[in-house]
Amino acid sequence: MQVTKLSEHLGAEVTGIDLRQPLDAATRRLLNQAVVEHIALVIRDQELTPNQFLTATQLFGEAMDQNYAEHGVPGVPFVNYVSNQFTDKAGNPLKSAAKWHTDSTNFECPPKYTALYALELPDSGGGTAFCNMRAGYAALPEEIRRHIDGFKTVNVRLGSAVKEKYNALAIEAQKAGNVVPVVHPLVRTNPENGQKSIYFNPNKTENIVGMSPEESQELLDDLLQRAMKPEYLYTHQWRKGDLLIWDNRAAMHKANYDYDMNQHRLLYRVCIKGERPV
Ligand SMILES: [Fe+2]
Repeated sequence: MQVTKLSEHLGAEVTGIDLRQPLDAATRRLLNQAVVEHIALVIRDQELTPNQFLTATQLFGEAMDQNYAEHGVPGVPFVNYVSNQFTDKAGNPLKSAAKWHTDSTNFECPPKYTALYALELPDSGGGTAFCNMRAGYAALPEEIRRHIDGFKTVNVRLGSAVKEKYNALAIEAQKAGNVVPVVHPLVRTNPENGQKSIYFNPNKTENIVGMSPEESQELLDDLLQRAMKPEYLYTHQWRKGDLLIWDNRAAMHKANYDYDMNQHRLLYRVCIKGERPV
């Protein structure tokens, strides 16, 4: 097995393994270390059924339920479809994950990792972009770091910034399984390496404790602009057979909608349970 960096601050490629075969303890340990160190890890040339994909992701931890149960792969627990053909009630493409975010912050213990496996891809574009928020945090001026260190975000299924996109009925339906807001630190420490990162999902943030929703979104926007330096970004351009797994504790990500939406982009997705953020 070979691990090769894909950019200076983020991303590595793994070649020379077949995730359908049992891996020895040393290889499993290396893979787990690599995802923490490189934040996004692409394991190339895999040929996986949804069940094999689930088994492969369990090398990194325990799979957990996801927000969109209606997108589950029938008969396979914990595996969801991600498709550009999903639409809202009016029939418009959902364009999920188009904004920078970290996954599923409405859970008390959000996923530490998310894994995707590509089934169908557009001819070009449709990448998944990442920003290293560990580097983004470290690069903030010290007074800003001190200012935000104790801040807490209030997380719900549909936060204040996206409620307008949905009608009241949809909001109720989507919030049904998660009515109690969850509070997370805006700056979290990864227990695996002790490093701090900026941590939030603008779509799921109702507000920052002590601030109005409007003030909160403004602060988060500002933080994002300061933290996102071009050198901390990496866009994963998908190849068929790629299994991509990333550390939600140290990165924000988004899906690029820069391609012909008539071409199907279809992936499997698994979330790996994390600890309660501190
Ligand atoms: Fe996401």
